[in-house]
Amino acid sequence: MFRKLATTAALVLATSTGGAFAAGTSGHVENFDFSFEGPFGTFDQAQLQRGLQVYTEVCAACHGLKYVPIRDLSSEMGPGLPEDQVRAYAEQNFEVFDAELDDFRPARPTDHFPANDALGAPDLSLMAKARAGFHGPYGLGINQFFKGMGGPEYIASLLTGYTGETKEEAGTILYENTAFPGGWISMGPPLYGDDVDYADGHSTELEHIAEDVSAFLMWTAEPKLMARKQAGFAGVLFLTVLSVLLYLTNKRIWAPVKNRTKD
Ligand code: HEC
Repeated sequence: MFRKLATTAALVLATSTGGAFAAGTSGHVENFDFSFEGPFGTFDQAQLQRGLQVYTEVCAACHGLKYVPIRDLSSEMGPGLPEDQVRAYAEQNFEVFDAELDDFRPARPTDHFPANDALGAPDLSLMAKARAGFHGPYGLGINQFFKGMGGPEYIASLLTGYTGETKEEAGTILYENTAFPGGWISMGPPLYGDDVDYADGHSTELEHIAEDVSAFLMWTAEPKLMARKQAGFAGVLFLTVLSVLLYLTNKRIWAPVKNRTKD
C-alpha cells in the first residue's frame, strides 16, 4: 500500500511540474504559473494588491465588478488590506448612486464595486471562471485538476496577445488578438507595459502586469478558493487515516479465522 501511495505521489509531482496542455481550439492560451494553481496553491497577497491597482487604474474605466463587495478587499484569504485602507480606497475611487439620497455619493466598503459597461465591456467579476483556457486531454479534466481551468491564463493571454493589426468592420475598429476566439476583439490593447507604478517595486513589464490583474480577477471570481482547497485537503487526510484504521480493524477481526485455516 505504501509503495502504491509513493507511486501516486510521484505521478502527481511529474504531472504538475511540466508537460503539455491542450489549448482551446479557438485561440492560443499561454500557460502562466500562478501561485494558486495545483491542489495546494494559495493566492499571493501582494500580487492581488497589485492586480487591484491595475484593475482600478486601467480596467475600471470600462469594466465593472458588480458582484464583488468592496469590503472583501480586507479578506485574509484575499488582498488582505487593512479596513481603514479599504474605506479610503472606496471613497477615493468610486461613486455610487444612493436611492435614499437620490444622488451619487462616494462608495463605502459595504457597497459593491460599481457596474460599468462602457463601450459594451462585459462585467469582470466572474470572467476568470467564465472562460476556460485548458481542456482535455480527452475531456478527463486532468489539466483542470493541476493547472486550473485556465481562466486567468486566458485573460493574461488576451492582454498580451495583441498583434498590432487593426481592421474596421461596420464602423467598429477591431484589434487582432491571438487568444480571442475568432481572432478580432473590439477592446483596444488596454496594457502596454509600465501602465502603473507599483509601490512594492515589482516589474511593470506587460506580461507581469497582465499576470497580476488576471490573478486578481481569479480572486474576484473565486474568493473562497483557499478555504475550499484547505477543506478538501482535510477531507482527503481524514479519509486516508480512516482507511488505515479500517484496514487494521479488518485484519484484527479476521485474525482468529485466518490463523485457524493455517494450522
Ligand atoms: C476602453 C475600454 C476598455 C478598457 C480600458 C478595458 N477593456 Fe476589456 N473589454 C472592453 C470591451 C469593449 C470588451 C468587449 C470586446 C469584444 O467582445 O469584442 C472587453 C472585453 C474584455 C474581456 C472579455 C473577452 C472575452 O473573452 O469575451 C476581458 C477578459 C477583458 N476585457 C479584460 C480587461 C482587463 C483585464 C482590462 C484592464 C487591464 C481591460 N479589459 C480594459 C473594453 C475595455
